[in-house]
Amino acid sequence: MLLAFETSCDETSAAVVHRGRVLATAVSSQIELHADYGGVVPELAAREHLRNLLPVTRAALRQAGIAPERLEAVAATQGPGLPSALLAGLKAAQALAYVLRRPFAGIHHHEAHLFSPWMEGDPLAADFSRIEPNVSLIVSGGHTILVHMENEAQIRILGSTVDDAAGECFDKTGKLMGLAYPAGPEIDRLSETGNPKAFDFPRPMLNETHDDFSFSGLKTSVRYFLRDNPGVLEDGQRIRDLCASVQAAIVDVLVTKTVRAARRLGVGWVTASGGVSCNRRLRLALAEACARSGLKLRLTERQLCTDNAAMIGALAERKLLRGLETPLDADIRPNWELA
Ligand code: KG4
Ligand code: ZN
Repeated sequence: MLLAFETSCDETSAAVVHRGRVLATAVSSQIELHADYGGVVPELAAREHLRNLLPVTRAALRQAGIAPERLEAVAATQGPGLPSALLAGLKAAQALAYVLRRPFAGIHHHEAHLFSPWMEGDPLAADFSRIEPNVSLIVSGGHTILVHMENEAQIRILGSTVDDAAGECFDKTGKLMGLAYPAGPEIDRLSETGNPKAFDFPRPMLNETHDDFSFSGLKTSVRYFLRDNPGVLEDGQRIRDLCASVQAAIVDVLVTKTVRAARRLGVGWVTASGGVSCNRRLRLALAEACARSGLKLRLTERQLCTDNAAMIGALAERKLLRGLETPLDADIRPNWELA
């Protein structure tokens, strides 16, 4: 029985995992706290984590029906992320491990996202022993990373964003349209009844042969478009068309580059994880493109796409089984590289 914390950004989460099965997950989101600022304010996030850690821990233990003494291990996200936010969860977990005299594991946030497509079912269960060679798209508010995963231990970064992350592009273009932070889910919803071909936005780096991404140019072209067509924001249907067109540009780039890398490397599987992998058009477009290319696809279950402690706990359990303990005085690693 392992208790895990995730506090790398703006979600405070605790989860209990046992032999790959998620027995409980509790998440306290800070979205409203940061909404007025248009992004996450690190100092506010850290304070909120300190306030929420005990309540989410109690909720997870209650849901799992266990007392703290029955925990056999403790884990937390060690990096990358906002330093003060990481510190809250990591130090709480290490203190608990010290008091209970249990082993501790510090987990790489993106590695946990990378493994999350291999968790499924109800209750969610991890089956990392069945990981097939794959190309994996980790796509969130802070990161857009394409990874070649040969097996559990062999991971190589193929490319990443050279400027804004895809989620950031959703959030920043949404802000230009007057949508609240984070705008990704709202753009997804508004796009359902919008025309993705209404406006033509650039597909940055789509035709380049490397695996890097760039989204800041797209954001700038939306800014100029709105400067030149301010009336669009006064017409509900045209706002939905704009959302659908921006979303189509982002999704096109993500899907084309992911599938192209998978074909080039000759892997049989594509996976996707991270907050943006909740996006309905992205899920659908990946499914269609993989089917056309004879690739199998594993999309992370929706409740595991955004930041959560269940994915941290499942990977931590696996690492501890393989003897990979982290010292109790280990520090946060805000800029920890994935591979
Ligand atoms: O993984 P996550 O919870 O946190 C980070 O590590 O960043 O991802 C949050 C990001 C935000 O940028 C949010 O706008 C985006 O994921 N997001 C979405 C959707 N749901 C969340 N973007 C597009 N469509 C969605 N349905
Ligand atoms: Zn994340």
